[in-house]
Formats: sequence, C-alpha cells, structure tokens
Amino acid sequence: MNFELRTLGLSGAAREKCEAMVLLVGDGFKPGKDALSQLAAQAIKTGDLQTKAGKLLPTYRANGLSCPRVVLAGAGDGSAKSVRVAVAAAVSSLKGGPARNLSVVFSDQPQPGAVLAAMLAAAEASYAYTSTKSKPEVRKLQRAVIGVASAPGAKAEFERAQAQVWGIELAKEWANRPSNHATPSQLAQAARSLSKFPRIKCDVLGPAQVKKLGMGSFMAVSQGSAEPLRFIVLKYEGGPKSQAPVVLVGKGITFDTGGISLKPAPEMDEMKFDMSGAASVLGVFRSLGALQPALNVVGLIPACENMPDGRAIKPGDVVTSMSGQTIEILNTDAEGRLVLCDALTYAERFRPSAVIDIATLTGACMIALGGVRSGMFASDDTLAAALLTAGESALDPCWRMPLDDEYADGLKTHFADVANVAGRAGGAITAAKFLQRFAAKFCWAHLDIAGTAWKGAAAKGATGRPVGLLLDYLLARADLGRAAGKRAGK
Ligand code: BES
Ligand code: MN
Ligand code: ZN
Repeated sequence: MNFELRTLGLSGAAREKCEAMVLLVGDGFKPGKDALSQLAAQAIKTGDLQTKAGKLLPTYRANGLSCPRVVLAGAGDGSAKSVRVAVAAAVSSLKGGPARNLSVVFSDQPQPGAVLAAMLAAAEASYAYTSTKSKPEVRKLQRAVIGVASAPGAKAEFERAQAQVWGIELAKEWANRPSNHATPSQLAQAARSLSKFPRIKCDVLGPAQVKKLGMGSFMAVSQGSAEPLRFIVLKYEGGPKSQAPVVLVGKGITFDTGGISLKPAPEMDEMKFDMSGAASVLGVFRSLGALQPALNVVGLIPACENMPDGRAIKPGDVVTSMSGQTIEILNTDAEGRLVLCDALTYAERFRPSAVIDIATLTGACMIALGGVRSGMFASDDTLAAALLTAGESALDPCWRMPLDDEYADGLKTHFADVANVAGRAGGAITAAKFLQRFAAKFCWAHLDIAGTAWKGAAAKGATGRPVGLLLDYLLARADLGRAAGKRAGK
C-alpha cells in the first residue's frame, strides 16, 4: 500500500475530498467547531460512538463533510496498540466497499509509534494476494493519506513505516506463493531483482558452486528434489567498507514434505510457507533499498525443496557439513537446521558483527509461543536485548528462550559428531542448540518463526513477520553508528 503524509487538522479533514475516511477518536477527544468534530462529539454524547479501541460508527454523507464515507473509530488511549486495533477494524469494514482511496486522520497529535501502527494496520487490512488467480479481485484500497496535526513532526516515522510496509508486502507475496510458483530459482530471481535499488548487490550460487564450498548438509536436503538448489547472497552496502556487517540467514525450504520421514497429508500444503525466513530477508532488503540507511547488511538464503525420492537422504545417513562436523540425519523432516548450519558456516567469511538466522524451524515453537511472539535464542545478552526492544517497537514481538548446554544432551550419537534431532521434549530449544554448534565464531541469534510467519485456518496466509523486528533492529544499529561517528567528530 502506498501512503502520503499530510498536515490535516479536524477542520481540514472535514473539507477533505477523499472516497473514505477513518477518524481516530481517542478517550481524550477534544472537539473543535468544525462539522467533523461536532459529529464525533455528538455521537460520543449519545453513546452511539464509544472511544474504546476497535469500536466503530460508520456514517454516510454526513452533514458538512466532503468525504461521503466517514468511519468514526474509537482509538482508546491512543497508544500504538490501540491505534492498530482501531485502524484494523475500520479499514476491514471498508474493504468490500467502493472506495479506492482512504484518509486515516488522527484527531490528536499521534503518540510515538501510532503512525507506524496505523500504516501497518491499514496495509494489512487492505492486503489481497493475487499472483495465482486468473481473475484477481483488484486491490481496491491501494492508497491512503495519513492525516496528522503536523506532518513534519511525523515524517521520520512515516518514511520508516512506508518502507516497513513495502518490505512486509514483498515478504508476504513470496511466502504466499505456492511452491511451484516460488521455486529456489524463482526466489533467486526475486533476490536478483532487488539489485535495482542503490547499494544492493546479489550473487546466486548453484549446485556446482555449493558442492565446491563443501556444503554437504545443505546438498543432502536438496538431493531428493528435481528442482536445483540455490544459495542466494544479498549485500546492502550502506556503511563504510571497514564496518562489519550484520548477516541475516533465512531458511528457504520452498516446500517441506518431510522427505522420507514424510509428513501427514492434512495441512501439508502449509509447508509452502517454509521459506518464510527467506521471504523476510527479501522483505528487509526491500525496506533497506527504500530507506538507504548507513550500515552494511548481508542476506544469505539456502533455498531448496525437501522431497522423498529414490535419491533422497534416509534416516541414519551421515553427512559432512561445511564446518567439517559430521551429522547423523535421524529425521529427514528436521531439514531446516541442515540447510542453515552450512549457511552459518558461510557467514564466517564476512567477519560479521552479528548473525541472525530466521526460520520456520519447529512445530514445538508454535506450541510453546503460539502466533503472538516469535521464539528468540541468543548467545549474547546485548543482542538479545536489542532484538526484544526492536520487536516491541515494530509491533512484531519475540520472546527469549533458553540455551542451557544440558538441552544439547539429546543430540549425542555414536555415529557422527551430532544428530539432527533429540527427543520430543523442548524441540524448539534442541533445534537451536544444534544451530549454536555452527555459530561459535560470532555473535548469534536465532528466530524461530514457525508460529508467527503465517496464519492458518480461514485467515490462511503469510504475515510478513519478522520484517518489522529485523528492520527496527538494523535501523537502531545505524542510529547508534551515526551517534558514535558524531562523538568521534566525523
Ligand atoms: N518446517 C517444519 C517446522 C514447522 C512445522 C513449522 C509445523 C510450522 C508448522 C520443520 O522442518 C519440521 O518439520 N520440524 C520438525 C522437527 C522434528 C522432526 C524434530 C517438527 O517440528 O516437527
Ligand atoms: Mn521439516
Ligand atoms: Zn521445514
């Protein structure tokens, strides 16, 4: 969704010629003398409008207003969370209607994070997937004006939010595409096309190069598939050459059948979303392309299918990873960690300041945290704190999980250096412990997004998470870098 920021007081909003309007009315609403204020004030007085977040009063051709469809939306305490609830409800109520553009108007000066919340919610509520429909319902609501009392004060947050929305929409697009429309090669093509933005470069490695690198674990997962694997390397070079990059590693399993350890049929289609980590890396690069911040970021995506086949890996097979560690593959459905471990080893060459992997890694994480918070594991407390903070401010929260060494006991085996699965207990944690063995040489965090990357049932579809969290983390780092530069007199 494309947004425009405008200075728009209540009297200006009353004269605004748009097709639909959402007026956010918080608990402390102070009406002016204009028609819009009077409408809202009266509706509150008569009890027709409650200011509780999410309560709506739709109006049509109200007296004195230039916009025919005005939805008065209770915005509660005006916090980012309340605004998100309000805008989500109001825009959903307009979604089926004839309006093609929209104004979202704040009746008070927005609180920090409220503009971001409004834009995320408006984009989310009006989103429609279309790529594989023969007669796509056109996305009616494509443009929205954000009206605030003073546009210059909201500009920085607005630009950041617009970039975040574009990143989330790109991540959703790729995650939502079925596996036959999002093959490893097609993902690589999507990554390549990001190099049209300044400072973004993309390299794609194929099977021969990956073999030469010795990525025996990644290759093992791919060997049952007719689709050739791709190893995607994205670079965003916004900082000085001397600055160590942050490396993002996204799990790119374009379809996860489980392999020989085949998954049951019900809901197996959802395993097209198993490249959501990769999609989030593409999304972050889209946002970086728009914002051009001063920092260096590398994105790594091991992309392949996990299929059963005459050539597929079998339970008990032992493979040698790029790190030299041998792995006994006891369950071919624990494939995410097998592709990620080689990408983590590859990350060493960038001498990174931090490496964050993002993966729909375990059903166990979904059981532990549900769809609200992503699981976060970190070998470093400062990195963990930064990711927690980023999640809160981007409205894309995570929760730190433990990494005690005792959790790795179940990964011991007589036949290799490590097994790829432990028992059922603590499944999200034992998966993280497996990855940690390949992340000893840098500051590392792992985000398990199995519960947060997509919604099931009737709302089935990708969420674009954790693009917001990652972008917020990166931008906070760029700000820190700028502040340090200033102190050093640069
Ligand atoms: N992609 C799945 C994880 C997953 C499952 C995400 C369900 C979202 C919903 C992953 O590759 C997987 O199959 N993990 C196994 C690990 C097990 C074999 C140790 C799992 O979670 O069952
Ligand atoms: Mn699997
Ligand atoms: Zn998987």
